[in-house]
Amino acid sequence: MLFTLITSILNVILPFLIAHRSRGFWLNSHYFYEQPAVRPTFEYLLVGDTEDPYHTVICGSGNNLTKEFENQCREIQLQEYDPNNDGKTDVINFKIKLDLVENHTITSIILILGLDFHLMTICPLQMQTFALVSKEFNNPTSGVKYNAYLELVQTSHLSCLRHHLDSKYNISLLANTDFSEEQAIDIMINSYFMREVTTQVKPYFVRSQHGYTGTMKIDLFLKIPEMKILYTPSFLQEVKWAWPQYLSLAITFYWIFNRIKRFVFNNRLLMAWEIIPWKKIP
Ligand SMILES: *[C@@H]1O[C@H](CO)[C@@H](O)[C@H](O)[C@H]1NC(C)=O
Ligand SMILES: *[C@@H]1O[C@H](CO)[C@@H](O)[C@H](O)[C@H]1NC(C)=O
Ligand SMILES: *[C@@H]1O[C@H](CO)[C@@H](O)[C@H](O)[C@H]1NC(C)=O
Repeated sequence: MLFTLITSILNVILPFLIAHRSRGFWLNSHYFYEQPAVRPTFEYLLVGDTEDPYHTVICGSGNNLTKEFENQCREIQLQEYDPNNDGKTDVINFKIKLDLVENHTITSIILILGLDFHLMTICPLQMQTFALVSKEFNNPTSGVKYNAYLELVQTSHLSCLRHHLDSKYNISLLANTDFSEEQAIDIMINSYFMREVTTQVKPYFVRSQHGYTGTMKIDLFLKIPEMKILYTPSFLQEVKWAWPQYLSLAITFYWIFNRIKRFVFNNRLLMAWEIIPWKKIP
């Protein structure tokens, strides 16, 4: 009786221990692929440093941006393309032209383009992100063509609650930064960097046109591909994943223990009575 009890308990526990020890039993990470719905928010910021440390061109749509450069930033164009007609923007094209005064040359640029980022399937999420592009120039430059991919950067897994739209980061940093404050841009970029989920621009092809023309054209082509999204699975998902592993081991153990039991009893290694109820005693 005790022997049967012990084998039964082992039969339940051993498969669990083995499955657990072999790893991959209880997954803490799942992923899926999705092309996010990304729309430009029509907020932008452009900072152009010149060879003169006292002269920086700043223009944009944010709060308290110095208005003195307003007429230096011209021909701003923002276009969205959806070549496969699936309703999601696949390419965003942003163009801007800078007029340079007093023979200044641009030595570096920082361009920040506000984006509304929306995941809709497994982990509903909406956040305000931006595309950050920076480039330095060694020679006088009249234009730069920047082709890049937008990528998702996660420093932790999404917690992913079903039917719950995660809007933790649905705050526009560009709209909520007071640019009249010193180092506002660095602080803004830093607080964006500290987020657990951000987007990043990965250059594919960058071409600068050299020569001094008194203007500088910036042409950004941003492609939005399908992205890999990491998330922590729910308890039910874990159970669904772990259950077949446990069951297949439990069946094997059940078979082995049955063999052992039969061997033990058949060889009378333990005291046992074989009770066969339908065998009538004469
Ligand atoms: C900056 O903008 C905020 C509102 O967006 C305003 O209250 C504040 O007075 C502005 N500061 C300066 C220095 O213009
Ligand atoms: C700009 O440079 C050109 C040629 O180098 C010169 O003729 C012109 O006077 C300069 N303009 C200013 C405002 O410095
Ligand atoms: C997120 O922010 C955008 C822009 O401010 C807004 O239109 C949208 O309703 C917000 N979504 C949520 C879920 O808060």
